[in-house]
Amino acid sequence: MKTQVGIVGAGPAGLMLAHLLHLRGIESVVLESRDRPYVEKRIRAGVLEQGSVEMLEELGVADRMHQLGLVHHGIELGFQHTRHRIDFPTLTGRSVTVYGQHEVVKDLLAAADQRGLPVMFDVTDVTLHGLDTDAPCITFMHEGEAGRLECDFIAGCDGFHGICRPSVPKGVLTTYDRVYPFSWLGILADAAPSQNALVYMNSDRGFALFSMRSPTVTRLYLQCRNGESIDDWSDDRIWNELHTRLQCSDGWKPNEGHITQKGVTPMRSFVTEPMQHGRLYLAGDAVHIVPPTGAKGMNLALSDVKVLAEALSRFFSRGSVEMLANYSAICLRRVWKTQRFSWWMTSMLHRDPDGTEFDHRRQMAELDYVTSSTAAATALAENYVGLPILFS
Ligand code: APR
Ligand code: PHB
Repeated sequence: MKTQVGIVGAGPAGLMLAHLLHLRGIESVVLESRDRPYVEKRIRAGVLEQGSVEMLEELGVADRMHQLGLVHHGIELGFQHTRHRIDFPTLTGRSVTVYGQHEVVKDLLAAADQRGLPVMFDVTDVTLHGLDTDAPCITFMHEGEAGRLECDFIAGCDGFHGICRPSVPKGVLTTYDRVYPFSWLGILADAAPSQNALVYMNSDRGFALFSMRSPTVTRLYLQCRNGESIDDWSDDRIWNELHTRLQCSDGWKPNEGHITQKGVTPMRSFVTEPMQHGRLYLAGDAVHIVPPTGAKGMNLALSDVKVLAEALSRFFSRGSVEMLANYSAICLRRVWKTQRFSWWMTSMLHRDPDGTEFDHRRQMAELDYVTSSTAAATALAENYVGLPILFS
């Protein structure tokens, strides 16, 4: 088999890249290790920056998102039992859309079917070859047969646990990371959201987040200890803890409902540099992870592939290698600013188990500042709705 771009991974990054390339007349093949139902049902975060919404619109795959997604014009920051609104349109002229990542993946896959874009599921033993040459290739097993995909370029969109990043020779990449001393316990509940703004709450007992997926499904998170077992959290314990942490002096609280999904996610910040080696270009979770507090993971993956599609298009249409050569440097400017924002939101809102009373008072001052100064609120809002995607 031969194609122009071999894409490893059918998450948001890999699928979006396949569509962006198709729009520019560039062929690709996507290789995915999981089966399609797994990929379509994997529950992840769900806030789309306006730039991500515009990308889906540009591709003509935004209909379901416009129908089912919830446009949010702000968020609320809570502390000392009071919620404070950060209004995005007033501060930035932009908004975000709450729409589950797996819904985005479903929409991209349905459109790939329609457009005849090749996506192969259940692929195993994916191995990269010839990254330092002009003719790299990917070998794999599919339905019991050995496959070989010859390509001009390989896009490593295979997430944090993928094989593309580890395929780069030792000594080429440098990793920067931070593991946080807490995790998130997340639930989905069949309960109507009790208001339409997300609430990020700093409480004495730790962080809590009120979010949603639809007019009938509420998404909630609690800061918990690392390594904590979900078995220790009965539904009653989860609701009690949520009510305690989210308690507000105006009486607002989340509605309770049947819990349909629960899980614990560790928190980390992680960046690998550079994001390219030879003819391999890495994008999304394959090269960077952000803690979920800023809702940036999927958006950052999408902005990487937007840059990559443009760079590949300049190469295939006019033979220009300049943007490809600068791919990593271009993306990393946005990646690091987004890392900073996600780290900042995380440290402002969580209770550090080793923190002191000084840290706590500093956090309260920071929240007071962000919710009372237009300058500080604007800085939060412009990061939350999404920094511009840079092309140089
Ligand atoms: N071969 C083929 N596919 C692979 C391999 C492999 N060896 N290893 C992993 N994959 C697939 C995974 O099964 C997954 O479907 O690559 C895909 C990577 O997708 P994501 O993990 O969703 O990563 P990405 O597309 O970069 O999107 C980032 O995902 O983790 C969230 O919060 C994160 O929202 C962010 C988004
Ligand atoms: C979610 O709805 O899953 C969600 C929302 C906002 C975040 C993280 C997760 O910051």
